[in-house]
Amino acid sequence: MSSIENNETLRVINERHSVKKYESGFVMPEEDLTAILTAASEAPSAWNLQHWKFLVIESEADKAKLLPIAYGQSQITESSVTIAVLGDLEANRNAVIYDQAVEAGHLKPEIRDALVGQINGAYQSQQTARDEAIRNASFASQNIMLAARSLGYDTCPMGGYNPQQLIETFNIPPRYIPTLLITVGKAAQPARPAGRFPLSDVVVRGSF
Ligand SMILES: Cc1cc2nc3c(=O)[nH]c(=O)nc-3n(C[C@H](O)[C@H](O)[C@H](O)COP(=O)(O)O)c2cc1C
Repeated sequence: MSSIENNETLRVINERHSVKKYESGFVMPEEDLTAILTAASEAPSAWNLQHWKFLVIESEADKAKLLPIAYGQSQITESSVTIAVLGDLEANRNAVIYDQAVEAGHLKPEIRDALVGQINGAYQSQQTARDEAIRNASFASQNIMLAARSLGYDTCPMGGYNPQQLIETFNIPPRYIPTLLITVGKAAQPARPAGRFPLSDVVVRGSF
């Protein structure tokens, strides 16, 4: 059993910081990108609806298009890739995932039908659809950042971009809402130190 000090997962979490300067021109091996995207898709999601789509922006031409959309933030062009994490506003349609379980005999068809009924009921609310898209896609984002760090890459999550321009430039269908851009690459400079509040400020035990 590993001690807290030697724990690999905690080390990766502690090492993840937002890197803004990357080795320009570093081409990430395809297998590393695949491992990072696979980790993203392993994230938990409400009802297992997997409310995400990952738009990978990697060609020089596409990076150049993205740069002004992200208000000129240079990590877009210097990093190896930018992953636009999109939330699925129609994630109720992903309930087809249950059909596999029914076919494999792990889920009774009537339970599947009841679940699908609940989900479609919840998705009558646009507010719910939007909240769930953003909430669930965010777990995938964190997996991207931790998997990347674990493989020796660094990342920067970015909310500083114009979502409407992103949608128009990259033909994002209305089904998806942009949540976050994440640059991934080899760090050329470490992240600027960013402090954290002590646990005594952020933890409430029991009740307020
Ligand atoms: C939702 C979100 C939006 C962010 N947007 C930007 C951004 O547009 N540009 C940037 O350089 N960093 C951005 N950051 C990075 C934060 O500034 C950074 O996470 C925070 O200062 C803590 O530092 P650390 O990530 O290095 O620990 C964003 C982070 C999050 C979670």
